[in-house]
Amino acid sequence: MKGKIRLAALLLALLGLLCACGAREEETREQGEPSLLLGFSQLGSESSWRIGNTRDIEQKAEEYGIGLMMENANQKQENQIAALRSFIAYRVDVIAFSPIVEEGWDHVLKEARQAGIPVILVDRDIVTEEQDLYVCKIGADFYQEGFQAGEYLRRKADTLGKEKLRIVEITGTEDSTPMRQRQAGFRDAIAGDERLEMLESVNGDFLISRGAECMRYLLEKYGDGIDVVYSHNDEMTLGALPEIERAGFVPGKDLVIISIDGGQKAIDILKEGKINCIVECTPMLGSTLMETALALKRGETVERETHPVEKVFSDEQDLSSLPPRGY
Ligand code: AHR
Repeated sequence: MKGKIRLAALLLALLGLLCACGAREEETREQGEPSLLLGFSQLGSESSWRIGNTRDIEQKAEEYGIGLMMENANQKQENQIAALRSFIAYRVDVIAFSPIVEEGWDHVLKEARQAGIPVILVDRDIVTEEQDLYVCKIGADFYQEGFQAGEYLRRKADTLGKEKLRIVEITGTEDSTPMRQRQAGFRDAIAGDERLEMLESVNGDFLISRGAECMRYLLEKYGDGIDVVYSHNDEMTLGALPEIERAGFVPGKDLVIISIDGGQKAIDILKEGKINCIVECTPMLGSTLMETALALKRGETVERETHPVEKVFSDEQDLSSLPPRGY
């Protein structure tokens, strides 16, 4: 009799265990096990572009069921290098990062290669002799952005019919890809046009406060000798505009204002007429990043470079039905 009771108790215990396991499996399936672990080092929070980019990557990781380890480097390369090392130590499946500057990544990327972890560059490029230190790059064609800004200015010069337009340039972070390529593209587009003269180029680090400082300095130096402000991002443009108004000029009329990014605030100001042209640079790179990371996990070959399609918004168009920008 005792034996039968012990057997029944054992069967009940086993049944309980099986039910518990089943419930746990069900729970895991509902929560969705992450299909891969992605380590992403964001370079900072210097602009609404960057904040929109961070948000998009977080949202898309969740939508794609990808586990995301995100580190924000607060504008310091050494913090990015430390973040990449922590991803390697954690043995994530894929590493992605937006390099703040182009040089200085070889050591840490060799460590990632040694650990067999594929690396995706997001938004910006690096300079390296060893092309296999990263698998691919997802981000804008910054040269084209600069070129389109220059082309707009040539059209504007035609419309204005002026003999001379003197330009000041407020650039992004020194030695970063967008700074180098937006400068090169713009210069190539205006090269040979006798009407267009570059007065000075100053570094505004992609920040609103630096945009204001640079504009104050340029206005003090050149006064009413400035006809055009070419700013490498919206944030610096937003910093420069109040300085122009304080100095007694009307932006968009007395001075041609050209910006890059196309965030909501700047687009609203373009519609008011205080900015003349904005070349779009979209921060919505999350979906392409997640799809590329999944493809790498499956061992597939991916495109070496992927550029999003980008537009130019200007006073040449009717922008009244432009949908909300989302950043
Ligand atoms: O690398 C993209 C650039 O970085 C954006 O134009 C700028 O706003 C950001 O800070």
